[in-house]
Amino acid sequence: MKKFLLLTLIVTLPLFAQDVRQERHVEATKAFGNLNFYYKGRGMAISPDMIRLYDSMKKIGIGTGDLGPLYQRWGMIVQNKEIKGLFNEPYEGMQVGVMGCVACHSGKAAGQFIIGLGNKNIDVGQVGMDASLAMKFWGAVPHNNPKFKELHDRAMEFTQGLGNPKISNETQGLVSTGLIRSWFYKIQGVTLPADFKKGQVKVPHLWGYGEKRKSGSFWDGEGNGELGGWAIAVELYAGQTPENVREYYDTVHKAENYLGEFLSPNYPFTIERTKAAAGEKIYAQSCQGCHGDHMRDLEGHPIYTASKHIKLQVIKTDSERLDALTDQLYDLISINPLNDVIQSWRKTEHGYVAPKLWGIWARFPYLHNASVPTVYDLLSDPTSRPKKFSLKNAGEKDRFDETKLGLTKISTVDLVSRRVYNTQKHGQSNQGHYFESFKKLTHENKLELIEYLKTL
Ligand code: HEC
Ligand code: HEC
Repeated sequence: MKKFLLLTLIVTLPLFAQDVRQERHVEATKAFGNLNFYYKGRGMAISPDMIRLYDSMKKIGIGTGDLGPLYQRWGMIVQNKEIKGLFNEPYEGMQVGVMGCVACHSGKAAGQFIIGLGNKNIDVGQVGMDASLAMKFWGAVPHNNPKFKELHDRAMEFTQGLGNPKISNETQGLVSTGLIRSWFYKIQGVTLPADFKKGQVKVPHLWGYGEKRKSGSFWDGEGNGELGGWAIAVELYAGQTPENVREYYDTVHKAENYLGEFLSPNYPFTIERTKAAAGEKIYAQSCQGCHGDHMRDLEGHPIYTASKHIKLQVIKTDSERLDALTDQLYDLISINPLNDVIQSWRKTEHGYVAPKLWGIWARFPYLHNASVPTVYDLLSDPTSRPKKFSLKNAGEKDRFDETKLGLTKISTVDLVSRRVYNTQKHGQSNQGHYFESFKKLTHENKLELIEYLKTL
């Protein structure tokens, strides 16, 4: 008997000792952190050799602090003087500054850096305006490399597009989906309609995407998530050719697969367990119908499941992201030159996906358009939600509100800055996601619910 026990222990111990999902998570986040798709001199890039200026800045130590101007103005996450998601790619004897996925798809919450979290401050509109201006001067200086002009002109077109006020984001932390949509018009030589919608959204979290994609990509769930083509649409917008994308499509598809390995970040502070248990009961009654259950495996890791799609007339949040989905757009998507890998799953009625709430503590400001600063506000009557709030240093510890879960309130002195979220702006309304069952929630109930959400 003793022998048998010993044998079982020897056989099963390694299984317990080795946390396979944790290991895969580490590998996957590392690979994603280094990912960019610059290829054959095309992709999300700035003018050749301009990246050397940044290298000099690093050496002298100007502007490269964690909370320095690169972060304040452009929302780029800086850690140990390195900008996350900015790469230096050699091409034909030049050094090209290239943007990778984690420029948008990594971020900070409560002072922690998390790969797969959406960047709360990224401001590609501001990057585009500033970079195209600086590049005008850079391009005027003589450059010897015969390929310089071609790459420079393309980078100019890319950054001017990012900064085009008709299409680009108006507030930090929002990305205009209009950038991507505009490619479908451009590639067919169709002019953008006069009432073209920006459809600004926050960058979504990526953990659980392996299951989420089965019910559709994006906030609207209308991207065919089984194919990997949508992830590369941003490169096409930046001047990549469909033929080149075909050559490296397998790498993209593989990259999307490892997003499924990401684990959600655990809440970094203490949780009151009895309060959380009370909150779990309220969750089951008022939330689970849409957001589903959140079970864990034996190692305590999330068991990810697909998400539900909720019609706009039920959820009643800002409609601009969905108003952008016109018949003309669907027609253009269906004839795009990569229509075997970039496809829509058109719904009969538009709506938003009710996302799984894993790691929700880190995903503020809430809703697809980042219009609600805390969970407490999201559980309260929309008329009482803050109309303006500041995104300054949004991912730092001193901006983290443990009680209401989300952003602390600070006085918004610079009311016109791109760091101030104004819910009166088009596409930035904080309405909706308020149901009959929410009206009965007392202050205590809301705090209990919040305590439960911290466990996810
Ligand atoms: C400029 C910022 C930006 C960059 C760079 C970027 N993304 Fe995204 N990504 C977004 C935004 C914004 C969305 C949400 C769009 C929507 O819902 O309409 C998104 C959505 C996604 C989704 C769907 C997530 C979901 O929940 O349905 C995937 C997958 C994805 N991106 C992968 C990538 C990969 C891979 C790269 C690198 C090639 C990349 N992204 C680069 C901003 C970016
Ligand atoms: C009728 C369906 C429905 C119910 C009930 C519901 N939700 Fe939601 N929830 C959604 C949808 C859909 C979204 C996304 C809406 C959007 O982004 O515009 C959402 C978004 C959220 C978000 C923001 C997610 C993010 O990434 O920003 C949180 C937090 C949330 N819900 C919590 C709750 C809680 C807690 C309850 C219960 C008290 C609840 N929800 C009840 C459908 C629902």
